[in-house]
Amino acid sequence: MDSTVQTLLLSGAQLTDAALERLLPAPDTLPHSIHRAMRHSTFAGGKRLRPILCMEAARMVSGGDTIPEGAANLGAALEMIHTYSLIHDDLPALDDDDLRRGQPTCHVVFGEATAILAGDALQTLAFQTIAALPTAPSSTVAILREVSLAIGTGVGSVGDLKTPLPPGMIGGQVMDIEAEGHPPTAELVEAIHRSKTGALITTSIVSGGIFGASPQALSEDTLTRLRTFGEKAGLAFQIVDDVLDMTQSSEELGKTAGKDTASIKATWPAVYGIDQSRKDAEELIADAFAALEPFGKAATPLKSLASYFVERKY
Ligand code: IPE
Ligand code: IPE
Ligand code: MG
Ligand code: MG
Ligand code: MG
Repeated sequence: MDSTVQTLLLSGAQLTDAALERLLPAPDTLPHSIHRAMRHSTFAGGKRLRPILCMEAARMVSGGDTIPEGAANLGAALEMIHTYSLIHDDLPALDDDDLRRGQPTCHVVFGEATAILAGDALQTLAFQTIAALPTAPSSTVAILREVSLAIGTGVGSVGDLKTPLPPGMIGGQVMDIEAEGHPPTAELVEAIHRSKTGALITTSIVSGGIFGASPQALSEDTLTRLRTFGEKAGLAFQIVDDVLDMTQSSEELGKTAGKDTASIKATWPAVYGIDQSRKDAEELIADAFAALEPFGKAATPLKSLASYFVERKY
C-alpha cells in the first residue's frame, strides 16, 4: 500500500476513534447492555473510510492544510450510521452473519433485541451529534437534509425508471433482501449498489464539503463534483466488496467469506464475472478522479483514498 494512503488511513482512524470515544456513552452508563453493545460494534476495528473521506473533503473545500476543527465529529456521526447499518445487516432476518470486523456480531454477543436497539441508538446519536456541530445553522440543516436523504428509502433510478426519491441506504437494503435467491439483472444490481452502499459514501464526501465551506454554502459546481466523485467511488467500493467476498478468506475479511454466492445475492460478479468486475471498478475510479480535476493537488488525499478502494484486500 502507498505510504500516503497508509498515513491518511492511520491518522484519520485515530481522529475518528478519539471522537467516537468522546461521543459514545461510557460502558458503565445505565442501561449497561445497550451502551456496551453500541461500543462492541463501533470499536471492533472498522477501517473508518467514511469519516476519513468526510474529513478529507472538508479539508479540500476549506482550502486549508489541516482538517477543520469539528469535522471529526461529523465523521464520527457517519461512522455511527455505518456501524448501525452493519449491526442490522448482520441480523438473522437480513444477512444472518455471526462474524463482523473480526469479532462475533452484535446479536451473537448481546442478543437480537439489544442488537436492534443498539443500531437504532447509534443512528439517533449520529443525528444528535450532527445537530451539535459547530457549523452555521444553515450548513447544519443542509448536512441533516443531505445525510437523512442518503440513508432513506429511495433507490434513485432502476434502468429507465426514475423514482421520486434519490438513492438511499435503506432503499438499497430492501432491494438487496428482496433480490435474494433470484438471478440478478445488471440494472437491479447497479440500483442496489448505488443505494445500499454508494449513497452513504457519497454523503460522507458531500457533507464533509458542506462542513468545510461553512458558513458559506457549497457552490453548485463543487457540490456536483463531490457528488459525482462519491457516486463513482461508492459504486466501485461495493463492486470490490462483492469481489472480495469471493476471493478472500473469512480471516482476511474479518467477516464470513463466500456468503454472497451461498445466499444467491445480487452482486456485480454474479452478473459480469470477477475479471470484468475488477475492470469496471478501476474504470469508475478513473471517472471519479476526473470529477476532482479542478481542485488540483488539494484533491490528492481523496484520490488516494479512492485508489485504495480498489486495491484493498479487506
Ligand atoms: C462494509 O463496509 C459494508 C459495506 C457497505 C460493503 P466496510 O468495508 O467499510 O467495513 P468496515 O467499516 O471497514 O468494517
Ligand atoms: C452492506 O452490504 C450494506 C449495508 C450495510 C448498508 P453487504 O451485505 O454486502 O455488506 P457485508 O459484505 O455484509 O459487509
Ligand atoms: Mg447485506
Ligand atoms: Mg452483509
Ligand atoms: Mg458484501
